[in-house]
Amino acid sequence: MDLLKDADIDPAPLAGKRVAILGYGNQGRAQALNLHDSGIDVVVGLRGGSGSANEAQAAGLQVDLIENAVRSADVVMMLAPDEIHAALYREIEPHLREGAALGFSHGLSVRFGLLRARPDLDVYLIAPKGPGTALRSLYTEGKGMIALWAVEQDATGHAREIALAYGRAIGCARAGLIASSFAEEAEADLFNEQAVVWGGVPELLIAGFDTLVAGGVSPEVAYLECVGELHLIAELIEARGIAGMREVISNTAELGAFLGGKRIVDASVRRRMAEVLAEVREGRFAEELSQEEASGYSRLESARAQARETKLEETYRKLSGEDQ
Ligand SMILES: NC(=O)c1ccc[n+]([C@@H]2O[C@H](COP(=O)([O-])OP(=O)(O)OC[C@H]3O[C@@H](n4cnc5c(N)ncnc54)[C@H](OP(=O)(O)O)[C@@H]3O)[C@@H](O)[C@H]2O)c1
Repeated sequence: MDLLKDADIDPAPLAGKRVAILGYGNQGRAQALNLHDSGIDVVVGLRGGSGSANEAQAAGLQVDLIENAVRSADVVMMLAPDEIHAALYREIEPHLREGAALGFSHGLSVRFGLLRARPDLDVYLIAPKGPGTALRSLYTEGKGMIALWAVEQDATGHAREIALAYGRAIGCARAGLIASSFAEEAEADLFNEQAVVWGGVPELLIAGFDTLVAGGVSPEVAYLECVGELHLIAELIEARGIAGMREVISNTAELGAFLGGKRIVDASVRRRMAEVLAEVREGRFAEELSQEEASGYSRLESARAQARETKLEETYRKLSGEDQ
C-alpha cells in the first residue's frame, strides 16, 4: 500500500490557485477552515439566504453565491449532500472554468452516474475517513485524518498533483493518503454504513439491550452493559488492533467473546453482508437515496422520531442527566 505523507507531496500545484468550497456543513466547514489555515485562497459558495453564511464569514472566510464562487475558482469542491450533487452540478456546469478541477469527498455521485463531468475538467476524490468535526479538531491539534484519494478524469494531466496537494492542504497527508478509486471508496463506504459500523453495530446494541430488559434486567444495567462499554472497546481496537484488544481484557471476557461472537455473527450474517454489498454495487442504495430526497426525507424523519421514543433512549437520557 502506498501511504503518501506530507513529505511525499508537492504543495505547489495549489499555490496561487483559488478553491471554491460548495457547502458549509460538516465537511465544508472543516475543509474550508483547514485550507484557509494552510494559506490557500478559499471562497465558500452558498445559495442565497443560506443560514451558514454568517458563520463562515465570522470564521474569517470569504463567502459568495455559488455561481460567483465557481466562476472565480480553479478548484471546486462539492461538499453539499450527495443526493444534491446532480442538481448542483447542473447549476454550476456553465460557470466552471475550462480545465478546472472538480473535487469530491465521497465517490457516490460519480460512481453511480448521478452526474457526468464535462470532459475538460479534472475530477478527483479526497475522502477523509471520518466526520468533519474530527477533521477540523485534528488539524488544529497539528494532526491529520487519513483519507482515500483517486482521480476519475485527468483532462489537464495535473489531476493527480492537484488532488494530492488538496489532501495535504486539509491536513490529511499528516496521517496519510491512500490510493483508491471512486468505485472502491463509494462501495466500501456505503457497505460499511449499512452493514457494519453505522448500521450493524447500533442494531446489535439495541438488540442486546432489549434482550436483557426482556429477561428482567433493569434498563440502566442493560444500557451500561450493552451500550456504555462501546467506547472502551473502540479505544482499545484503535490503540492495539482486535487481537491486541483481546489480550488486555480479562480471561472471562476473552472466553465469552470467543464463544459468543461467532455464534451471533454467524454464516447467515455474512451472507446478508454479501447481499448488501451486491445491492450497493447494483446502485440500489443510490436509487433509495435519490428517492428519499425527492420525498422530502419523509422516511428519515419518521425513523428519527421513532428512535427517540424507545426505552433505550429514555434510559440514555436518564443516565446522561439530559432529563434533569
Ligand atoms: N459528514 C461527514 O463528515 C462526511 C465525511 C466524509 C465525507 N463526506 C462527504 O462530504 C460531502 C458533504 O457532506 P456533509 O455531511 O458535510 O454535508 P452537509 O453537512 O449535509 O452539507 C450541508 C451544506 O450543504 C449545503 N446545501 C444543502 N443543500 C443544498 C442545495 N440544494 N444547494 C446548495 N447547497 C446545498 C447547505 O447549504 P445551506 O447552508 O444553505 O443549508 C450546507 O451548507 C458528501 O459528499 C459526503 O458524503 C461527509
